[in-house]
Amino acid sequence: MLQQLDSLDHWRNLPIKQQPVWPDPDAVAAVSAEIATLPPLVFAGEVDNLREKLGNAASGRAFLLQGGDCAETFAGATAEQIRNRIKTVLQMAVVLTYGASMPIVKMGRMAGQFAKPRSSDSETRGDVTLPAYRGDIVNGYDFTEGSRQADPQRLLKGYHTAASTINLVRAFTQGGFADLREVHSWNKGFAQNPANQKYERLATEIDRAIKFMEAAGADFDELKRVEFYTGHEGLLMDYERPMTRIDSRTSLPYNTSAHFLWIGERTRDLDGAHVDYFSKIRNPIGVKLGPSTSPDTALELIDKLDPDRVPGRLTFITRMGAGRIRDALPPLLEAVRDSGATPLWVTDPMHGNGMTTPTGYKTRRFDDVVDEVRGFFEAHRAAGTFPGGIHIELTGDDVTECLGGSEEIDEAALATRYESLCDPRLNHMQSLELAFLVAEELEKR
Ligand code: PEP
Ligand code: CO
Repeated sequence: MLQQLDSLDHWRNLPIKQQPVWPDPDAVAAVSAEIATLPPLVFAGEVDNLREKLGNAASGRAFLLQGGDCAETFAGATAEQIRNRIKTVLQMAVVLTYGASMPIVKMGRMAGQFAKPRSSDSETRGDVTLPAYRGDIVNGYDFTEGSRQADPQRLLKGYHTAASTINLVRAFTQGGFADLREVHSWNKGFAQNPANQKYERLATEIDRAIKFMEAAGADFDELKRVEFYTGHEGLLMDYERPMTRIDSRTSLPYNTSAHFLWIGERTRDLDGAHVDYFSKIRNPIGVKLGPSTSPDTALELIDKLDPDRVPGRLTFITRMGAGRIRDALPPLLEAVRDSGATPLWVTDPMHGNGMTTPTGYKTRRFDDVVDEVRGFFEAHRAAGTFPGGIHIELTGDDVTECLGGSEEIDEAALATRYESLCDPRLNHMQSLELAFLVAEELEKR
């Protein structure tokens, strides 16, 4: 056991990126020690179940849908916003299940997605330079010296906000709200638009099918509850390490802050702290791969993070950009396929498609998102590998952050409701539209 704990801390000897500068390291150590005594947010058994499900997705027998905010905020952890996001994911999942006739593994970028990697350590406005905003679990977004200073009390607030979020997620998904007989009601409260209307027609078909099966005496316990998993970028080690516990049943280490964690594009160095720490925990883990990833790097990541080739253990989340995916993805798919490894391949069609408008809004074009998704499916069809999931930044609210979609949000409209503190998210309608497009691709698969 001692040896195991030692090895869990080996990352401390390695180069580490994207950590805040804490003004008082002792205060951080004290908070981390306190977090280590708090109850786990997820349980090892659930984590193991998810790994098995992701293994199914890796071999083409299921599909992963992962969505949520770029950066969750403490203020945004309200019942209404959480409910709208869950409803959106549930609606997308219904569209995908119906289109693909295949189980959809549902997962939020939720209940812990509070820490952000940044391209620069500082931000300058006019003649004032302050530390960059690194997410609510580190510092505040307001551009003042006090707010931008890293505050370890935020680690605790992050834990408690994640706990109340996951509590609500569990209540919504286990307590009747996610019952498939509610398929119509998930669509209520959203502005009526073409995607919602298409959804409404689908919901009517599903309703009829359920009523038919009920009349025929089928038992529908399975339809009453939904398994909904949580995931976030495992970035902030002063939080992730104390949330790591040795499971009493198996004596193995699990990160109990989320079912699934991924390593970001900026912290996936083969010899860096993050890859070492993640190689030691049992959770299914993801790694983001950008367009500069070489086939050798992908193979080395597999050897480090999944030496035993456990089904569902490793997910590669590719974020190439619409303009690059058709060149950048095939060599990775081929090299990994030829090595005999079968990670789960997921597309993140958001992070390679960022742009800034002349008016200063960070945005993405819905058409680029769709194009990257299509490129992802094409590349997998050509390589004979399985396109196993989609990872997107979305909200259930009617924000105007991404350009396009059938509502045709244009540059002028971005100003009307732009709420993200970080990257632009698909709004409720754009998310549904995307689900219909992915369902079409899955039908062709
Ligand atoms: C993210 O998922 O919000 C993110 C920062 O992505 P990436 O690591 O791909 O840049
Ligand atoms: Co983002």
